[in-house]
Amino acid sequence: MASVSVKNLVKKFGKVVAVDHVSFSVNDGEFVVLLGPSGCGKTTTLRLIAGLEYPDEGEIWIGDRLVNDLPPKDRDVAMVFQNYALYPHMTVYDNLAFPLKVRKVPRDEIDRKVREVAKLLQIEELLDRKPAQLSGGQQQRVALGRALVREPKVFLMDEPLSNLDAKLRIYMRAELKRLQRELGITTIYVTHDQAEAMTMADKIVVLKDGRIQQIGRPEELYNKPANVFVAGFIGAPPMNFMDASVKEEGGRLVLDTGIFRIELPDYMAEALRKAGPPSEVIVGVRPEHITVDGDGVEVEVFVTEPLGGETIIDFKHGDKILKIKYPGLFKAKPGDKIRVKFDVDNIHVFDKKTGKTIV
Ligand SMILES: Nc1ncnc2c1ncn2[C@@H]1O[C@H](COP(=O)(O)OP(=O)(O)OP(=O)(O)O)[C@@H](O)[C@H]1O
Ligand SMILES: [Mg+2]
Repeated sequence: MASVSVKNLVKKFGKVVAVDHVSFSVNDGEFVVLLGPSGCGKTTTLRLIAGLEYPDEGEIWIGDRLVNDLPPKDRDVAMVFQNYALYPHMTVYDNLAFPLKVRKVPRDEIDRKVREVAKLLQIEELLDRKPAQLSGGQQQRVALGRALVREPKVFLMDEPLSNLDAKLRIYMRAELKRLQRELGITTIYVTHDQAEAMTMADKIVVLKDGRIQQIGRPEELYNKPANVFVAGFIGAPPMNFMDASVKEEGGRLVLDTGIFRIELPDYMAEALRKAGPPSEVIVGVRPEHITVDGDGVEVEVFVTEPLGGETIIDFKHGDKILKIKYPGLFKAKPGDKIRVKFDVDNIHVFDKKTGKTIV
C-alpha cells in the first residue's frame, strides 16, 4: 500500500492550463475523489499521477518516492478508464490473465490470482465467456479485475461507472466502495457526478478550471462550502442563490433580497461585520432549508415535482425560480400562493465580488 501526494502540479497544453498549481495528498488506503465539471483537469491530473503525461511543474510522490521521472510501468499504479476496453477476442479468463502474462508471471500463479480476483468480483461463472456475452456491469467488473490482478499500490479510476445505466451505476458505487474498503487500496477516483463523490469519498478534491476550490470530507463540503462554486456544485437540487443588500437596522444586520428580509443572528452579523461588511452579498439556502410556514413570506408556486417520498416545490423569486425540498407530498397548482420561510441558521452568505464564503 502507499500514500500519494502531488505538490504544485502544473500541466499546460499550448495556451490551456489544464492543471494549475494543484496540491493534495491521499493517505494510505484512503478513497479520494477528484470532482469537477467537464474540462476542469480531472483526467489530466490522473494521467500525470499514472505517468501518462509529464508535468510542466511540480512533484508527484507515491509512498516516499518522487516518481516524476519514473515510467508508468514502474509506478505500481493501475488505471481504469471510462472506456475500458476489454480484448473482445479473449475470454474473461484471458482478459484477467493478460496483465500477468505480459509480466511473465508463472502460469500456476496466474491461475491462482485470476480465480482469486474472479471470486472477489463474483464473476467466477463468467470466466469462459467473451466480453460481448456480458452485461455492462459484468464487463465493468472484468475491467476492474484486470486492474486488480496486478495488485497495484494505487488505483486510479477515471469515471469508471459512466457508461452503466442509472440503477447499475448506483449498485456498482456501493460495490466498488466495499471492495476498496476490503482491499484497503489507496484510490483516486475521478467523477463529475457530485452524488457519486458524496457517497463514495473519504475526501473530495473539488476542481474548477484546473484549480482546487476546496478539499474536504463530503459533509464538510456540504455544510461549509468555501465559495459559491462549491456551494452550487454539491447537493441536489442545488443550493438556491439570491442577490441581497446588507442593511443596518437598529443595531442589527439585515439581508434584503427584495422579497425576503433576513435578520441575521448575532454570530452571523459579527462575521459579516468582520468582512467589511460588503454592501452587496449573495445569499445561499439549500432546498431542504426552506420550509412552507404560515408565518413566512408569500410567494407564488411555479410548479411542483412530486417524487414520491418528497416534493420539490419551485417558486418565483423575482425573475428567478427557487426550489424547496418538501418532505412528503405537497399539492399545489402553478400560481397558487404559499408562505415560505428560511432556516436562518442554515443560510450561507458569500461575497458578491469574490464569490468567497463570508459565513
Ligand atoms: N492532449 C491534450 N491536448 C490539448 N488539450 C488538452 C489535452 N488533454 C486535455 N486538454 C485540455 O485540458 C483541459 C482539461 O482536460 P481534462 O481532460 O483533464 O478534463 P476533465 O476534467 O477530465 O473533463 P471531462 O469531465 O470532460 O472528462 C481541457 O480544457 C482540455 O480540453
Ligand atoms: Mg476526463
